[in-house]
Amino acid sequence: MLPSRALPDGRLTGLGATRGFTKGSWDVTAVCMAAFRARPRPARKRRWTAEGRPAERGEAPAGARRPEAAHRPVLLEQVIAFLAPRSGGHFIDGTVGAGGHAAAILDRTGPDGRLLAIDRDPAALDLARVRLADYAGRVVFRRANFSDVAAVADEERFRDVNGVVADLGVSSMMLDDAHRGFSFRQDGPLDMRMDPSQTVTASDIVNRAGETELADILYKYGEERRSRPIARAIVRARPHQGTRDVAGAIESVSGRGRHGRIHPATRTFLALRIAVNRELEHLEAFLDGVPALLAEGARLAVISFHSLEDRIVKHRMRAIGSVVTRKVVRPDEPERAANPRSRSAKLRVMERH
Ligand SMILES: C[S@@+](CC[C@H](N)C(=O)[O-])C[C@H]1O[C@@H](n2cnc3c(N)ncnc32)[C@H](O)[C@@H]1O
Repeated sequence: MLPSRALPDGRLTGLGATRGFTKGSWDVTAVCMAAFRARPRPARKRRWTAEGRPAERGEAPAGARRPEAAHRPVLLEQVIAFLAPRSGGHFIDGTVGAGGHAAAILDRTGPDGRLLAIDRDPAALDLARVRLADYAGRVVFRRANFSDVAAVADEERFRDVNGVVADLGVSSMMLDDAHRGFSFRQDGPLDMRMDPSQTVTASDIVNRAGETELADILYKYGEERRSRPIARAIVRARPHQGTRDVAGAIESVSGRGRHGRIHPATRTFLALRIAVNRELEHLEAFLDGVPALLAEGARLAVISFHSLEDRIVKHRMRAIGSVVTRKVVRPDEPERAANPRSRSAKLRVMERH
């Protein structure tokens, strides 16, 4: 049982239409220009981001590394305003990633505030260790699933903490690294594991799940309306070796998405990622574990990137504390323009009763 879970225009500018005949002779310039315009134009290749959105002007397409964009923490000022870290405070970052939110918290909690930095991806933790080297002695790094936050915090003696943050989903580094298998624009192995030590990979689902089970996964986690034809196409084209094989099967039934807003493989890849990493179950366990760790009046801030996550965060926060964000907080236009990856981000904050 499997886990429950990116014209030729060839304008025939007829030479007759544009040729110039000046003073009884051919105007060479006009003829050359006409020939130039009449040449077949290569199809304009659409560039896609690693998440499946058409890349905007200035935005790096999938596979292009732009570290400065990759490390921009989403909704940073808002998270800091809500958590209000002060000198000496103790905080937990459940998804430390490249350490952007963590660094801002550590800046404000010096000289002796502490931070428990958790991530399930060892590569992210390595990056965080480098990024947070200046705060050595004040940060405890733990490779763990945030679903185990209560146990990990207990082991590290983080009790009555002043705030917890979780910035959900995959990091830009994961998305940009074809070898991790999250991208359908660049070929990579059918992996998608955030934690490389877990056994289930995307290949297990793509190559072994029954057609109905696969369709259900695409519908439930990707909210993919064409789940059935896509599942059928994937099953028929088995075995799949890499992410481009799967994307090709999806394109065979849904086209290449030239005119659509998102690439036709986007929802399928999201669904597979959620299923492989059991993201929703871990999120629920995390939200259940946090309240007991918070000091009175302390806050939990969660940034989510798709509606399934946000729904869970919204409902659980109501159940476990007082919701501080009456309306969900979204990135403002300057942030969205500077970091298009932030566009789907939603921040919700709760406070312990
Ligand atoms: C969007 S990134 C975090 C970026 C970070 N806030 C920063 O400022 O650089 C999300 C991180 O969460 C981690 N992650 C996702 N689910 C997790 C889980 N269940 N437990 C622990 N870490 C998780 C991923 O490995 C990834 O490194």
